[in-house]
Amino acid sequence: MDFAPELIQYLWKAQRIAVLTGAGVSQESGLRTFRDAQTGLWAQYKPTDLASPEAFACDPKLVWDWYAWRREAIKSVRPNAGHYALHEMAQRAPHFTLITQNVDGLHEFVKHESLKTSQTFRDYSILELHGNIQRVRCSECGTFTDEWGDDTESVPRCAGCGGLLRPDVVWFGETLPRSALEAAVESARGCDAFFSIGTSGVVQPAASLGFAAHNRGALVVEVNMEPTPLTPKTDFLIQGKSGEVLPALVQAVWG
Ligand code: OAD
Repeated sequence: MDFAPELIQYLWKAQRIAVLTGAGVSQESGLRTFRDAQTGLWAQYKPTDLASPEAFACDPKLVWDWYAWRREAIKSVRPNAGHYALHEMAQRAPHFTLITQNVDGLHEFVKHESLKTSQTFRDYSILELHGNIQRVRCSECGTFTDEWGDDTESVPRCAGCGGLLRPDVVWFGETLPRSALEAAVESARGCDAFFSIGTSGVVQPAASLGFAAHNRGALVVEVNMEPTPLTPKTDFLIQGKSGEVLPALVQAVWG
């Protein structure tokens, strides 16, 4: 795979790299994206029926079961070469922030795997803007729990207050975790190079991060199968699968 020499030079010298990922990064692990016309989750389900506080209030069991199904699907998949390449980038760039809209925890998985096995591990921030599907909290008191019964008849309840349990993900109409969002904005505004990878770039506020980086003079690189609303502001659109493009790019810059 060939990359522009000026891109390689720039990334080699970059002090601060910020990366935003979306569902496309996990597609090669076998997880479905949201907006693919044929296989996307939102081609089959309506977001407002499953991913909103109103949906949960109206039919908590339907919402709980949909997330339980996705949680199980995620448990059976592994990170792909794109996730590992981003971890490698984090080990090489002087300052690196990984911002993700994904709730699958695959970036965290790679980082923790490396923490346990690598003697040269360098820590970096992973900002989960939309939460994490493996975490569960009470919809009333907010207490997190790792344990809930396997009663399939009803939605499990909080051991403390009796409120219904829900996944710790951001639903449509809810605000993002404040500290993660603030840190994401700060890293987008302060980076030399910003990557937007495997995201359709239509869900706010994540979608605005690439524009913020561009406005502050960062080099903006997109890795996607197709152009997105951010493409007119990007310096490089690398069209292809992130699991193929990213390992080749990391090798070309830091290999
Ligand atoms: P989308 O499904 O909207 O977009 C996935 C993007 O990944 C598309 O632009 C694809 O072209 C691209 N893509 C697919 N396979 C790829 C691959 N192998 N390599 C690189 N790119 C690939 O997913 P998101 O942009 O992540 O929010 O969606 C954003 C948010 O919308 C999600 O976090 C979720 C959803 O509703 C909530 O649930 C709050």
